[in-house]
This record gives sequence, C-alpha cells and structure tokens, in this order.
Amino acid sequence: MDKKIMIGLLVTLLGLLVLSGYNSIESGAQAGYPPTVPHSIENRQNCLMCHESGVMGATVTTHPERPNCVSCHVTQ
Ligand code: HEC
Ligand code: HEC
Repeated sequence: MDKKIMIGLLVTLLGLLVLSGYNSIESGAQAGYPPTVPHSIENRQNCLMCHESGVMGATVTTHPERPNCVSCHVTQ
C-alpha cells in the first residue's frame, strides 16, 4: 500500500479514537438524547411531582423548567 495512504489512515483512526474518548467524557448528564420513560405515564402526568425532588427514587431532572416533558422523553 502507498505510504501516504497508510499515514492518512493512521491519522484518521487516531482522530476517531480521540473523538470517541471525548464523547464518552461528554456523555453523562450533559449532552445527548433524552432517556426514554421507563415507566407507564398513566396517572403520572405530573412528571415534576416525582422528578423535581426525586420522590420514590426518581431521577432528579436538571431541567424542571422545560414544559411538556413527553415531547422529548418518549415512552417505550
Ligand atoms: C410517581 C412518581 C413518578 C412520576 C409522576 C413520573 N415518574 Fe419518571 N420515574 C420515576 C421513577 C421512580 C423512575 C426510576 C425508574 C423506575 O423505577 O421506573 C423514573 C424514571 C424516569 C426516566 C428515566 C430517567 C433516567 O435517568 O434514565 C424518565 C426519562 C422519566 N422517568 C420521565 C418521566 C416523565 C416524562 C414523566 C411525566 C409524563 C414522569 N417520568 C413521571 C417516577 C415517576
Ligand atoms: C427539549 C427536550 C427536553 C424536554 C422538554 C425535557 N427533557 Fe429531560 N432530558 C432531555 C435530554 C436531552 C436529557 C439527557 C441529559 C441532558 O442532556 O440534559 C434529559 C434528561 C432527563 C432526565 C435524566 C436526568 C438528567 O436530568 O440528566 C430526567 C429525569 C428528565 N430529563 C426529566 C424531564 C422532565 C420531568 C421534564 C419535564 C419537566 C423534561 N425532562 C423535559 C431533554 C428534555
């Protein structure tokens, strides 16, 4: 294989590695897709009742100010 192509490939692979490492640091509570709702939302329309303060072990939301939670958090 041509030496230039080899070097090009190596650089690309290195870049991908750096990017994926960066992504795993970024994922967590900041960026990414909204997690799906793992429970039924029947009789649970008031999401903040639990998700504002963590009632029953619910994950506390970082964004209680956003309206219409289910527009982003789809149910399964
Ligand atoms: C009665 C309390 C309660 C209400 C009301 C409630 N939830 Fe939850 N929610 C929980 C609990 C407890 C969990 C933890 C997972 C489990 O045990 O089901 C959870 C988990 C979640 C998760 C997953 C969080 C994560 O980090 O993966 C999302 C998203 C979520 N709920 C969204 C909603 C939305 C949207 C509503 C309103 C339509 C809502 N919840 C209403 C109690 C509640
Ligand atoms: C505009 C889209 C959007 C809306 C509206 C929204 N969320 Fe989220 N939510 C997200 C995203 C994206 C995440 C993934 C973590 C992040 O980027 O903050 C998330 C994460 C969460 C989590 C996991 C813990 C956390 O904060 O990281 C919970 C619980 C949650 N949301 C609950 C709610 C509730 C309750 C509402 C309504 C009051 C709501 N969300 C409205 C997009 C949204």
